[in-house]
Amino acid sequence: MKKHIVLLPGDGIGQEVITSAQEVLNAVAEEFDHSFTFDTKDIGGSAVDLHGTPLPQDTVDACKNADAVLLGAVGGPKWDQLPSHLRPEKGLLGIRKELDLFANLRPIKGFPKLLHASPLKEHVVKGSDLLIVRELTGGLYFGTPSERRDNGHSVVDTLAYTRTEIERIVDKAFQCAQLRRKQLTSVDKANVLESSKLWREIVDEKSSQYPDVTVEHQLVDSAAMKLITNPTAFDVIVTENMFGDILSDEASVLTGSLGMLPSASLRSDNFGLYEPVHGSAPDIAGLGLANPLAMILSAALMLRYSFQLEDEAKLIEDAVQSVLDDGYHTSDLQLEGGQKLGTKEMTVQIVEYIKSQSTTNSILNC
Ligand code: NAD
Ligand code: IPM
Ligand code: MN
Repeated sequence: MKKHIVLLPGDGIGQEVITSAQEVLNAVAEEFDHSFTFDTKDIGGSAVDLHGTPLPQDTVDACKNADAVLLGAVGGPKWDQLPSHLRPEKGLLGIRKELDLFANLRPIKGFPKLLHASPLKEHVVKGSDLLIVRELTGGLYFGTPSERRDNGHSVVDTLAYTRTEIERIVDKAFQCAQLRRKQLTSVDKANVLESSKLWREIVDEKSSQYPDVTVEHQLVDSAAMKLITNPTAFDVIVTENMFGDILSDEASVLTGSLGMLPSASLRSDNFGLYEPVHGSAPDIAGLGLANPLAMILSAALMLRYSFQLEDEAKLIEDAVQSVLDDGYHTSDLQLEGGQKLGTKEMTVQIVEYIKSQSTTNSILNC
């Protein structure tokens, strides 16, 4: 299979982990006789430095012509004081909007070897396996902020959703639930927000189209509590943009590190941009310490969702599991024993596992 992938490294550790994903994809391509071609484009702070904008048109055009996009991370202190339209984060929001990537799937499943890496008790974390379906192109992030008023002492951000925007993400979440344990939790703040009331109405309307899925509503504040006291109670969570952003970082605690969580940002035809949940981690950028697994697992999601290459996706996930089982991990994971590796060394372990499967296959074929 021939596929063209645009790489958007972005800033900080984004630059480091995207290289890991590319190396892993090259190993997969070799193993399965695929041809993946890559084109690297600028986004975020590095694009501001080079082109004066966090989202150059050339980047948008390249992404639109690609079969899929991989993004590292954007942002960093260097650009924090820029006006809003020049902030690196605006580049990320812009590309999500340009590509109509309204559905952000954030799977959270602990690897057995990492049960002790979570600060939560082992019996709480054990067996947790959930999917956060985050609305990605609406809500507070895309409202028009007011100019500063009252001599700069007052400002307004708007949280707006249309029925169509809510319907399509709710449909996506029901469909995801049908493929999993058929249990959907819709998280909102319907005791306060009008947008959440409409959200809740639409979830209830839609539920009759998916009679095999059990639905419950939960307010976001208690959902945040339950996520770390009783995570196994959840299968699929569907929620609006900002709630989903916050809950997914919280949920990463179940896996031991934010550096473990991949995500898929999808359009209705399953075209996708694949991005780790974490950011550019300025505190460790350039030190070679970043955990590349969130990015590598995002590449696996790309193979599964955009290219329907399930065996290839599974091989990457097996590689991650096997390398962790062997005791290798990066220093973000609070684990005793085993061997701590840097970004590059961890990537080598994953690539070697993939290549070793190739050797096994050819021996078996002989
Ligand atoms: P962050 O996710 O960058 O870092 C939070 C903490 O987690 C840091 O201590 C960091 O070292 C650690 N961490 C994150 N990913 C890691 C990895 N792969 N390996 C090891 N440790 C890892 O969040 P932040 O510090 O709040 O934000 C830093 C910058 O990143 C900001 O400019 C923010 O806007 C941006 N950001 C970008 C994205 C994105 O591009 N998708 C996501 C979140 C934050
Ligand atoms: C994420 C990030 C982004 C978001 C920021 C950088 C705009 O936190 O991808 O989770 O909030 O969507
Ligand atoms: Mn986030």
